[in-house]
Amino acid sequence: MSRIAYVNGRYLPLNRASVHIEDRGFQFADAVYEVIAARGGGLIDEDMHLKRLHRSLGELRIAAPMSDAALKLVMREVLRLNGIADGTLYLQVSRGSAPRDFPFPKSAKPSLVMVARRGRGPAAALIENGVGVITLPDIRWARPDIKSVALLPNALGKQRAKEAGAYEAWQIDRDGNVTEGTSSNAWIVTADGEVVTRRADNSILNGVTRLGLIGLLAREGLKLVERPFSVAEAKAAREAFLTSTTNFVLPVVSIDGTPVGNGYPGSIVRRLRQIYEEYIVAQEPAL
Ligand code: PDD
Repeated sequence: MSRIAYVNGRYLPLNRASVHIEDRGFQFADAVYEVIAARGGGLIDEDMHLKRLHRSLGELRIAAPMSDAALKLVMREVLRLNGIADGTLYLQVSRGSAPRDFPFPKSAKPSLVMVARRGRGPAAALIENGVGVITLPDIRWARPDIKSVALLPNALGKQRAKEAGAYEAWQIDRDGNVTEGTSSNAWIVTADGEVVTRRADNSILNGVTRLGLIGLLAREGLKLVERPFSVAEAKAAREAFLTSTTNFVLPVVSIDGTPVGNGYPGSIVRRLRQIYEEYIVAQEPAL
């Protein structure tokens, strides 16, 4: 089955799916996006993703390309046309295309594209054994809370991680504290069993996985503390992990080559992975 993408009102074979070369997403990174997990043909935490999409659009003053009801229909149609039950749906909205000029164009119409990909996330061995991260200075713009496609620092960071044999790069602010990964949120578990992640201010993306997991912690009797943590604290932590739509909850077992805890996924992160998976399964549409 050839892959089908959605581009501004049309469903097209992927190799014919394109936007204008003067699209402002292409020239100015003047665009926002969402990545949503699909399971059993349903879209996980769809409303939370759409809420964040509207926030990102609002911060950049880009008009919504269509109603949420229409977006939901198109997203499902993209999954259906590609025969995808389990995978990810990528959605991007740019300010539209217009002759290159920095101020917002008067008449550009937002451009909407979607593409879907099959797959169920990281290999079982990564979930079982955990992953390593490296740390890098956070060189992004000051508004990573907006899910814009200005991802060059993120791509450079992930490449550095890959070249170092690591899975992710944790970005570090000027105070030596971890902001987040290049495409995931960063967490530690302290010696006292407190679950720590940075507060969702302007310095990080407020992950939908992050929010979903926060909602599950109290039920587990786990205490959440939203505060910055340093690289040194993370290296000395009892456990560490990352969260994202594509990874769910993934144990981090080394930071810059230093093992976290005993170098194996700890009991709390393994429990959190399990309850998050249950949370996903509970959202799958009934057959
Ligand atoms: N990335 N932080 C950053 C910088 C991200 O790019 C992402 C997601 C997250 C986690 O957010 P969520 O839980 O909503 O996926 C945090 C997506 C998956 C991507 O760009 O592919």
